[in-house]
Order: sequence, then C-alpha cells, then structure tokens
Amino acid sequence: MRKKIVAGNWKMNKTFAEGVELAREVNDYVRYKEGGEGVLVVLGTPFIHLAKVAHNITESSIMVAAQNCATEKAGAYTGEISAEMIASTGAKCVILGHSERRSYYGETSPILVKKVAQALESKLEIIFCVGEVLEERETEKHFEVVKQQLTDGLFNLAPEQFAHVVIAYEPVWAIGTGKTATPDQAQEMHAFIRSVVAEKYGQAVADETSILYGGSCNAGNADAIFSNPDVDGGLIGGASLKAADFFEIIKARA
Ligand code: G3H
Repeated sequence: MRKKIVAGNWKMNKTFAEGVELAREVNDYVRYKEGGEGVLVVLGTPFIHLAKVAHNITESSIMVAAQNCATEKAGAYTGEISAEMIASTGAKCVILGHSERRSYYGETSPILVKKVAQALESKLEIIFCVGEVLEERETEKHFEVVKQQLTDGLFNLAPEQFAHVVIAYEPVWAIGTGKTATPDQAQEMHAFIRSVVAEKYGQAVADETSILYGGSCNAGNADAIFSNPDVDGGLIGGASLKAADFFEIIKARA
C-alpha cells in the first residue's frame, strides 16, 4: 500500500552507543505520539547496529533497514553481509542503489538486480534509489537516466515482487550539498517516475508505489517538498542524525 514514509539513512555515522541512543529517542517519539501519526519511520543504520536497534524498537510503525546487502546468498565472500543475515537481525528493509554505492563502490544495474533478488528472497522490503548527476540534469538527460535506472535495476521483477519496493529519487547534486531540488523539480520527477511505473506495471500498481525524495531535505524544507501529490516522504541523510531535526521532518510528513 502507498505509505507516507520518512526514512533516515545514517550512512557511516554513529558509534554503536550513539546509534542505539538515537534509535531509542526515535522510538520514544513515535511511542508517545508526539506528531508522527500515519507515518512509517525507517531507520537505516550501519550493519553493526541492526540487531540491537531492531531488538529495542517497540513500535510497529518503525522499520529497521540496512544500507546495503551482498549479491550472493552465502559463502566465501570476506567482509560481505547477506540479505539473509540482515533479516536474521530483525531488520525488515534494505536500502539499495544509493548513489554513494553506485559511484564509490561501482554498483552497476546488473549488480543491483542480484542484490534486489537476494533482498526479496529474504523477505526484506527495499528502498531503491535512483537519481541523476548534475551534468545529466544540465544537459536535460535526467528523465532518461532515471528511467534507465528503473528499467535496468527493477523492471525484471514480477508485480508481486515490485510491491515490496519503495523508490527514492535522489538527485545526486542535492545529496549532502545543501542544494535541494525545488518542490516543483521534485514533483515533476516523482510524477514522471510514477508514469514510468504505470507504463510497466499499470496505473493501480503505480498509485500504490511510495516515492521518496532525498537530497538535503531538512526540517526547514520538508514541509514544502512533502506537500506535492507525488512525494510520499523522504530519504534523509544528514538531518536524520539529530533527533530533533528528524522529528520535525516526521511531523512535516504526518
Ligand atoms: O540517503 C540519503 C541521501 O543521500 C540524502 O542525504 O540528506 O545528507 O543530503 P542528505
């Protein structure tokens, strides 16, 4: 079902103790209903936090997510973490295809297809990231680029598999830069993404697909971005690391 979602992606931040404490603050915020009704909150923690955070969360409207998973199920892959291992911690979700993974770790669409398959096999929900770099926007290739990322990374899925995917549109030029897409730019791309999903899976599926915006979204601009009809929530980096800012963003989505 199409949901309102605010997902924090902690990236490589927070020691174990700091992360457990931040998750406790978020849990308490949601528990005592300080303003986040109707919003699914996702905590995208580093791997080492997953089990403890998942164990401590008491609220069903909070989902714990990993930020990556391996392409393979198990075996001699030193340093890798499988989707099955992630699911065994109590985490229910994984973020895949983030632009930092694509650009720093060479994650191509064929690699992402394997990761998506592993995640689905382990019954994890998926937040799948797409987005163009600045040059692609400036040369007006952004729609084409995003459509290709969706087609190559996801459109091999059957409709019942696709139902476990949330799409996050993150213009790479807006990530961690303080430059946000304008609410109009976000709406334009989100509507486009929904139309591309509709072409492939039909309008009913497209209407049920949550599409999140990510890229310098913060307590000050969340309201304007979320007020667009095709923006179902946000994937939040920097502003998810401070409880007070994250709460404001959750409130803006409610
Ligand atoms: O996954 C989150 C995005 O990369 C956005 O990061 O909010 O720090 O710009 P940011």
